[in-house]
Amino acid sequence: MNAPASAPAQKPCDSHGILVQCRPGFEPDAGRELEQRALAARLGGKLESRSNSGFVIFRFNTPEARDGVQRKLDLARLVFSRQGFHLVAQLGQLPEKDRLTPLLDAAQQCGTRFSALLPETPDTNEGKERSGFLRRFVPLFEKALGEAGLLQADAPHLPRLHLFFSSATECALGLSQGSEGSSWPMGIPRLRFPKDAPSRSTLKLAEAFIALLTPEEQKSTLRAGLQAVDLGASPGGWTWQLVSRGMRVSCIDNGPMAPQVHATGLIEHLRVDGFTWKPRKTVEWMVCDMIEQPARIAPLMAEWIIGNRCRRSIFNLKLPMKQRHAELERCIGLIDAKMKAVGIKYTLRIKHLYHDREEVTCYLARR
Ligand SMILES: C[S@@+](CC[C@H](N)C(=O)[O-])C[C@H]1O[C@@H](n2cnc3c(N)ncnc32)[C@H](O)[C@@H]1O
Repeated sequence: MNAPASAPAQKPCDSHGILVQCRPGFEPDAGRELEQRALAARLGGKLESRSNSGFVIFRFNTPEARDGVQRKLDLARLVFSRQGFHLVAQLGQLPEKDRLTPLLDAAQQCGTRFSALLPETPDTNEGKERSGFLRRFVPLFEKALGEAGLLQADAPHLPRLHLFFSSATECALGLSQGSEGSSWPMGIPRLRFPKDAPSRSTLKLAEAFIALLTPEEQKSTLRAGLQAVDLGASPGGWTWQLVSRGMRVSCIDNGPMAPQVHATGLIEHLRVDGFTWKPRKTVEWMVCDMIEQPARIAPLMAEWIIGNRCRRSIFNLKLPMKQRHAELERCIGLIDAKMKAVGIKYTLRIKHLYHDREEVTCYLARR
């Protein structure tokens, strides 16, 4: 990032652009999506993106009022963004001996108090090297913000302050409302691997529940006694998340289910094809992690909702290396066409989760 050495002189709190953080390698997708959304919202500007940097910036032609941008551009809905914020200042050439003073000055110039501090770096090897520095720096900076009367943790209506260290001497300052992004710095959830879970992909569904469902939805739909179906269930990482909440699961896969999943007594394992099998009664949840072309999975998911086979679904779309954003748009179109054809209103939320690699995770339900 080429950045001026001091904080900007423009009106406090104006947004100079949007910075979104993504998995390194996904900058073209995150950039295309952000640019499309910004231009559709009539926000003039230019995309700045570097391969494998782990972030992209859409810089506005002229600073924009933050609440106006917030109304026009729903940052939380960006698929390829793990975390996003309004860029309010970029500091370069930070002295390694005292980064605190210029950053505190810049925070004071924001003209607002903050509900939280989110220390962030790109999710790259270089970024990870800064974790030791952040561990030492963040408590000092929080203390300084507190002493300056700038931190008010019990006021969620206030914006959060992001400190995004793009290098050891460069830092972008950003603001976001809690509803605009992840509550975890860098959008990386700290989830513990459940003891005895049969595969690492269990964390993907655990993250999906938190990232794609509201707390109320989690409470009302992830309950003991509810019925679920897991398409492509072997060896059982996703099923594990469902049975550990007391749900009964029909596991559809030719492959084996891990012994500890069988031992819960909450599953039936059916060695049948996930594209043709149907439940006898409506189930609360259908989850699907079948490795198949996304253009085959997307319509199948819509058919489950339309046919009342399930009330709600979480599924993966495995995207090709190239044109991920375009392929995703095609899949969204396929779902939309099926739903529109029968006049069903629906909710579709999609995220490229931290635990996702070449895929995105989607939530689909009737509205
Ligand atoms: C990525 S793995 C699923 C991992 C699982 N979600 C977990 O957490 O352990 C994909 C699974 O989909 C299954 N699969 C692929 N096509 C299928 C189909 N047509 N019907 C049922 N299962 C299928 C494969 O056998 C494979 O076990």
